[in-house]
Amino acid sequence: MENSFLIKTKELVKIYPIGWKKLAALDHVNLGFEKAEFTGVVGPSGSGKTTLLNIIGSLDVPTAGSAEVLGKKVEDLSNRQAAALRNHSIGFIFQTFNLLPVYTVFENVEFPLLLLGLSADERKQKVRKALEWVDLVDRAKSKPAQLSGGQCQRVAIARAVVKKPAIILADEPTANLDAENSHNILQTMEELNRELKTTFIFATHDEKVIRYIRRKITLVDGKVAKDEVMNPTKAERKGQ
Ligand SMILES: Nc1ncnc2c1ncn2[C@@H]1O[C@H](COP(=O)(O)OP(=O)(O)OP(=O)(O)O)[C@@H](O)[C@H]1O
Ligand SMILES: [Mg+2]
Repeated sequence: MENSFLIKTKELVKIYPIGWKKLAALDHVNLGFEKAEFTGVVGPSGSGKTTLLNIIGSLDVPTAGSAEVLGKKVEDLSNRQAAALRNHSIGFIFQTFNLLPVYTVFENVEFPLLLLGLSADERKQKVRKALEWVDLVDRAKSKPAQLSGGQCQRVAIARAVVKKPAIILADEPTANLDAENSHNILQTMEELNRELKTTFIFATHDEKVIRYIRRKITLVDGKVAKDEVMNPTKAERKGQ
């Protein structure tokens, strides 16, 4: 291996045309992420956090520069190859949960596995394990509308981890949750990070998330303004 980074961006640039002007959503970003990181990307609204996560998640491509994810340059991938990278190696957690309302909790968590060619039995075992991680085994048959916001986000976490991806990208995962639910899901994610060595990258404004992360990257106008190591204590996490 060329380096120990799971994810590496090199002079990463993303330009959006705004009318006849051009806006640099990411402006020469150089970052490396190692296995089992628990990192937050912070910064003002419009600073490029979601754009960065989308490119790392191979949902979007750079305008210039490079983003290498698990040894693959996302800018070189075909749509099919990008989908394969996402299906096997990347889990997404969104602010709005993005659960499928007509399906049960079990079916929502099972969904990413349908693309991996597993038997029904294998899928069932994996879904059960994922629901155990987020403590929702007893709600497997419920529909999302029958759950609280915190429970929905736990289903979304289960859906993201069920295939044990190397990387989980979480865009404002606590934005729709109250303080208690936020701490619960952050604790769950921290446990998964420890046990499964999953790399977590959060985009967030939320102080509660910032108390948990071990590295804080600050974006301002699409540039890395700060990159800090954080060492949260248990008391700090609870806001004491
Ligand atoms: N599809 C698009 N077309 C045009 N401009 C876009 C597009 N997506 C994002 N932008 C612009 O790029 C900049 C960065 O957006 P981005 O969504 O990455 O910010 P963010 O840091 O996630 O903000 P927030 O905290 O509000 O979620 C913003 O100025 C935004 O308006
Ligand atoms: Mg955003």
